[in-house]
Amino acid sequence: MVNFEWVKCVALVAMVSCGVTVLTETRDGVYKLGIGIADITGPAAEINMMGYAKMSQTTGGIHFRQYSRAFVIGDGNNRVVFASLDNGMASQLVKLEVVKALQEKFGDLYSEKNVLLSSTHTHSTPAGFLQYVLYLIMSQGFIRQTFDAQVEGIVKSIERAHENVQDGHIYWDQGELHNASINRSPNAYENNPHDEREKFNYNVDKDMFLLKLTDLENNPIGMINWFAVHGTSMNNTNDLISGDNKGYASLKFEQDLNKDTIPGKGPFVAAFAQSNEGDVTPNILGPRCIDTGLPCDTSSSTCDGKNENCIAFGPGKDMFESTQIIGQRQYEKAKELFTGASKKLQGPVQFIHQYIDMSNIAVNYNGTEGHTCKPAMGYSFAAGTIDGPGDFNFQQGTTSSSSFWNLVRDFLKRPSESLKQCQHPKPILLATGEMSFPYKWQPDIVPTQLLKIGSLVIVAVPGEPTTMAGRRLRQAVKEVFDETLTGSGDEIKVVIAGLSNAYSSYITTYEEYQVQRYEGASTIYGPHTLQAYIQQYQMLANHLALNLEVSEGPLPPNLLSRQITLKPGVIYDGAPFGRYFGEVVEDVDPVYAVGSQVRVTFVSGHPRNNLQLERTFLTVERWSNTTHTWDVVATDANWETKFHWHRTSSIFGESRVIITWDIPSDASPGTYRIRHYGHKKNLLQVIRPYVGTSSEFDVVAS
Ligand SMILES: *[C@@H]1O[C@H](CO)[C@@H](O)[C@H](O)[C@H]1NC(C)=O
Ligand SMILES: *[C@@H]1O[C@H](CO)[C@@H](O)[C@H](O)[C@H]1NC(C)=O
Ligand SMILES: *[C@@H]1O[C@H](CO)[C@@H](O)[C@H](O)[C@H]1NC(C)=O
Ligand SMILES: *[C@@H]1O[C@H](CO)[C@@H](O)[C@H](O)[C@H]1NC(C)=O
Repeated sequence: MVNFEWVKCVALVAMVSCGVTVLTETRDGVYKLGIGIADITGPAAEINMMGYAKMSQTTGGIHFRQYSRAFVIGDGNNRVVFASLDNGMASQLVKLEVVKALQEKFGDLYSEKNVLLSSTHTHSTPAGFLQYVLYLIMSQGFIRQTFDAQVEGIVKSIERAHENVQDGHIYWDQGELHNASINRSPNAYENNPHDEREKFNYNVDKDMFLLKLTDLENNPIGMINWFAVHGTSMNNTNDLISGDNKGYASLKFEQDLNKDTIPGKGPFVAAFAQSNEGDVTPNILGPRCIDTGLPCDTSSSTCDGKNENCIAFGPGKDMFESTQIIGQRQYEKAKELFTGASKKLQGPVQFIHQYIDMSNIAVNYNGTEGHTCKPAMGYSFAAGTIDGPGDFNFQQGTTSSSSFWNLVRDFLKRPSESLKQCQHPKPILLATGEMSFPYKWQPDIVPTQLLKIGSLVIVAVPGEPTTMAGRRLRQAVKEVFDETLTGSGDEIKVVIAGLSNAYSSYITTYEEYQVQRYEGASTIYGPHTLQAYIQQYQMLANHLALNLEVSEGPLPPNLLSRQITLKPGVIYDGAPFGRYFGEVVEDVDPVYAVGSQVRVTFVSGHPRNNLQLERTFLTVERWSNTTHTWDVVATDANWETKFHWHRTSSIFGESRVIITWDIPSDASPGTYRIRHYGHKKNLLQVIRPYVGTSSEFDVVAS
């Protein structure tokens, strides 16, 4: 089949010169498809978590592991990589280093232009992997281990995808998912023009868009879907690393298609990717005052003037159950769309990428001239959201215990008059665009990128667009393709891949910005941020449709060598007198019924001695009477297990781990044991592995 770009190209031949690549043929929707998954779980102890900006929220174990899920998609000429990361946001520095590593292995095949990294935005993830100061304050600077785990895991997932590329098809479907998301700043949304709001049934996007990847015989090999909802089902009191609701949905989907495999180890990969979730919370019971149980003040989300008491809750009895319910709903909708997906993508694979200086763009919005600004954060940023009220108490920074914070606090700048005017009506808390000590606080230069796979266009946005911002952006991009490619093939579908390639906080509409909720306060380039992106992505869409090149744009800095770490590493580990590493402190019971919880405590080393990437800190093992071996039935990547780490003495470097296993209803009766794998560090800084093993116990039907 001759693809429709060719038809268009003939029509356009008088206007533009058709590049060789538009003349390719796609064999009836046959693509080169590769799938890979790899572990990116960062340090499980004593590292601040990224998302809620809560100083006291540090890692204390693992609920389930985090992965990079990579998909190579190509035609005869081009290939693109879409990778969905179970973490807080894509980092510019991570992307630069991932591309560097890929180019060392594969030459020019992969570059920043055709690789798209998009995050699920779980808030239960170790911090310290971004390169700009604002995003490193809570973690007391850069955390090399978090960063390395991400770079190495992402590269590994893409390598794996690269190695198993095969011919196959891509089917798509879309549908609405209700009861998994609500708007957390409805009064800002209401400030959008009435006529615009009238066009939509809801104040959040309920659409899930899904791709089903198969081999040539239509056997499923992978799945990607996009649905907009924050990764905040786990709240800011959680200290266990978790993929939150999307991570749970991925686990479920993958376990379904990879029967009897350990999470992260099966061939089928299912990504629940993020979209325009800026103002979308999974805590669908909405906010209420935790002291009185009454509704919060709607415009300020406060209770009696205090933001810390206004919290939104999910549908479950606790945050674990809420994560499971919101994950389960996404999983079920995806399963339904996946089963029914029968429309095939056809047409070439294309991509376009350009860096832009977002602080310096002239826009025309609603008939008036405007301009973007240097970055700045407003006061409401410090208040946080109903998903996690902030304790970003910068104004009272003197009582803070963060040494990194103290270091930078004294260099805070008063915002200039021009910045105040440009950012109006935002009251500026942090003039980040005018702060450069010890290095840049927020980016000016961000990447913009489009991937096109047949009639699907993926818009990679380096931040968190709100519902309406995402709708405007999708529509604007679609219009360009519709006008440029009229009558040439399938209708263009546009999805937003949020939190992609770099992070620059939020993107609200101009009207939402006026209300200055948390999202508006965190829209860093001022009221015209969205319009600047719309112009940019329209330009990219136009060039892609006409197969024209764009310039590279101004390059972002690589600040790796300038990073500062004030977080101390592991000094040494000690076992209490008369005890040894891996010794059982509190043992299991002899017998458990299905549905109950097994619990065991070990003398441990520090989890930062070795992250056990692609491995595990624990196994649940079942004795096989036929093979006479202990078979692993669960690891620290399973939902049913929890790995908790506790310091018991700082002076003597002593710690313990508590491992729990909630015996699932489908567990086979039999004899089991639990093991703990760790590493200990002695005073000479030598790190050695150890293993601990619980007593055996029986699991019986309940
Ligand atoms: C939505 O969720 C709530 C709470 O979990 C439940 O009571 C209700 O039946 C659900 N509604 C729909 C339409 O699924
Ligand atoms: C977090 O969730 C737990 C239930 O799992 C609840 O008790 C607690 O109040 C919540 N805290 C916040 C700050 O949301
Ligand atoms: C857009 O322009 C119209 C007409 O000039 C005006 O009434 C409206 O308030 C403007 N909207 C915004 C958001 O500036
Ligand atoms: C395994 O074999 C032992 C000894 O032959 C027997 O007592 C036990 O019931 C068997 N367990 C299972 C789960 O079959």
